[in-house]
Formats: sequence, structure tokens, C-alpha cells
Amino acid sequence: MNLTFTQEQEMMRKMVRDFAAIDVAPFIEKMEKGEFPREILRKMGGLGLMGIPVPEQYGGAEMDFTSYIIAINELSKVSATMGVILSVHTSVGTNPILYFGTEEQKQKYVPKLAAGEYLGAFCLTEPSAGSDAASMKSRAVRDGDHFVINGSKVFITNGGEADVYIVFAKTNPELGAKGVSAFIVEKDTSGLVIGKDEKKMGLHGSRTVQLTFEDMRVPAENLLGAEGEGFKIAMANLDAGRIGIAAQALGIAEAALSAATEYAKQRHQFGKPIAAQQGIAFKLADMATNVEAARLLVYRAADLRGQGLKCGMEASIAKLFTTRTAVEVATEAIQVFGGYGYTEDYPVERYFRDAKVTEIYEGTSEIQRIVISKHL
Ligand code: CAA
Repeated sequence: MNLTFTQEQEMMRKMVRDFAAIDVAPFIEKMEKGEFPREILRKMGGLGLMGIPVPEQYGGAEMDFTSYIIAINELSKVSATMGVILSVHTSVGTNPILYFGTEEQKQKYVPKLAAGEYLGAFCLTEPSAGSDAASMKSRAVRDGDHFVINGSKVFITNGGEADVYIVFAKTNPELGAKGVSAFIVEKDTSGLVIGKDEKKMGLHGSRTVQLTFEDMRVPAENLLGAEGEGFKIAMANLDAGRIGIAAQALGIAEAALSAATEYAKQRHQFGKPIAAQQGIAFKLADMATNVEAARLLVYRAADLRGQGLKCGMEASIAKLFTTRTAVEVATEAIQVFGGYGYTEDYPVERYFRDAKVTEIYEGTSEIQRIVISKHL
């Protein structure tokens, strides 16, 4: 295993770091008030960041998977909102079409997604089917050259903003997971109703909505993969998606550690910087140790995925450990800042609010433990 990044990967890191400092950081205040970062996404499309691992023949940058993970990691150090938008758009919004689509579907959708002209979303979760995704109730019935889909979805990241939705519904309810099919649904499809915007604890610039399908008519040619293959498509793309969320959590943890360290060097109490007090110094040392371990797990999983090797267990381990680390490190960073850390004058309270959901979406920590233990 190579533990150093290539020159190209380092160039990606620098490019995204500069972009985040110049273009993303000034927009954080607006995102915190709920504004969706359309303009930033447009610029990211221009820089090739909306299709980093997508082959050139479909309009992407055709860079390796690790470079893509570096981009999420660097963006998330500045804005975890940008990290999740990019991760969902690419891992579960674009890749299902790239890996399971017909040539026609790839030609039609992937270049626009890779250019950032289209934004992608992934519609698996339902009001009564979260962790138990196979128990979904949405139903797709064939009607001539269309499927008619009825049902509802919740917590759809990028929902309302996305142009393309990967929708999962049952074509054969008796077959459980094997009765689930996947569909590519365009935003102006009749019967696709965008519902309530969730008011969330964090990630305020990222839209999360409910969706209803009311006799939604989807052309049969938009069936993704074979009928009954939907659950496999969802799971296979979530493997890589979970590495993206782990990279997002890593970015938050790194940002929290860095803010806490800088503050501890400047803040004086009892006649010396609090960084020189053992209680704080040891706290920072523990935070740094966990961040380093998380970084190795994230890039190890990314490296396996990039080589096309199996990475389901490694992705779940990386997500489980890194998301916990993000919550713990953000919590400790607030502690280092004391009362100031609890105010909006410093970013650590935002890191804390943004970190929590990483332990929930794309499979809760409990689900990651199920996946890991099944592999064991
Ligand atoms: N890759 C390919 N196929 C897979 C797979 C994988 N990683 N995992 C499972 N499958 C296949 C299995 O092989 C099986 O097929 P066979 O019978 O032919 O072997 C089929 O799928 C069913 O598998 P299971 O019996 O293991 O399924 P299960 O019902 O027990 O569920 C689970 C397994 C791991 C708990 C799964 O339901 C799960 O991951 N749940 C969490 C759902 C989730 O992550 N939701 C996230 C929502 S998306 C999101 O949050 C995005 C966002 O907007 C931020």
C-alpha cells in the first residue's frame, strides 16, 4: 500500500483547497441561512469537479477515485455542505448510471451530470423504510412503454435542486429485495412532487426534501439495470458513497482539530497558553491520533475502490470510525474553545452540527456494524 499521494493527487488537493478558500468560504454565511450554492456548483462544473472519476468519453475528468475523495475531503474542511452535495451527486447520483446504465442512458445523462449542468440525487429512503431499505413501499407498475410509480421518499439530499433522480421502487413486492427496480427520473416528470424542506440541525446549505410520486409516468427506457436489480444497484453504489461520507467527516474532524489547536496556542489562562496546559495538550493529542487513524482508513478504502477491488467492509469501517471521530473531535474542539465555542462567532459549533448526520445518512453507524459483522 502506497502511503503517499501522487503528484496529480497533490495537484487536486491544492486546486480544491484554493477553490474552497476563495470561492466557498465567503459563501458560508449565506449557506448557513439556507441558500443553496448554485453558483459554486456551476464553477465546480467548470473546473471538472462534478465528474472527477467519470471517464473522458462521458465528459468527465477521468481521474482516479482517490482524487475524487481528496476533493470531498478538502471541500468539507471548509464546508461540509459542499462535501455532501458533491458526494451524493457523484457516488449515488451519477455512478449508478455510469455502472449500470445502457450506452444510451450513459450518453444522455452522464456528460451533463459530469459537467455540472445537471445535479443528481438518490431516492431510496422512505418514511417507514430507512435502515431496512428493502421494506420500501413505493410501487412501479408496467403500463405499455411506461412504468407508473406511486409512493413517497424522505430525506432526499439535493432534492428539489436535482435534475436527475435515481428512484427505487418495487416492481415485484412479493420478492422483497429482489423485487426492487431502479429508474432514472427527470425533474419535470409529471407526478414527481417535491414536498417539504426539512429544517435540519446542520448542513444548512444542502437541501433535504420529501418527494411524492403520484402516478408518476417514467418511460420504460429509463429502467436502470434489469427489473429486480435495483437493490443491488443501491447497495453497490452505497459502498463507494460511504467512502465519500467518510471523507466528508474527515474534513470536518480535520477542520475542528486545526481550529482547536490554533485557538489553544493563542488563548492564555493561568499565565500561559492553554495548549501548554496538560489537560488541553493531551486532549489535542488524542484528537490528532484519531484524525490520523481516520485519514488512513478513508484513503485505504479509497485506494481499494480505485483499484476496482472489493471494499464494502473497508468502506463501512472507514465510515463508522471517521464519522464517530468527527463528532468526538468537534465536541472536544468546542470544549477547548470553552464558552466561545458555543457561540456562532467561531466555526466549531457548525462543525459539531454538521458532523452528527454523518453517523446517520448513507447507513447509520449501526448499519455499518451490520455490514462489517456480516463480512466477518
Ligand atoms: N453490493 C452488491 N450487492 C449487495 C450488497 C453490496 N454492497 N449488499 C447486499 N447486496 C445484495 C445481496 O447480495 C443480496 O442479494 P443475493 O440474495 O442475490 O445475494 C441482496 O442485496 C439483499 O442483501 P441482504 O439480504 O444483505 O439485504 P438486507 O435487507 O438484509 O439489508 C442492509 C442489508 C446492509 C441492512 C441494507 O438494507 C442497508 O445498507 N441498509 C441501510 C440503507 C442505507 O444505507 N440508506 C442510506 C440512504 S441513501 C442516503 O442517505 C443518501 C443521502 O441522501 C445522503
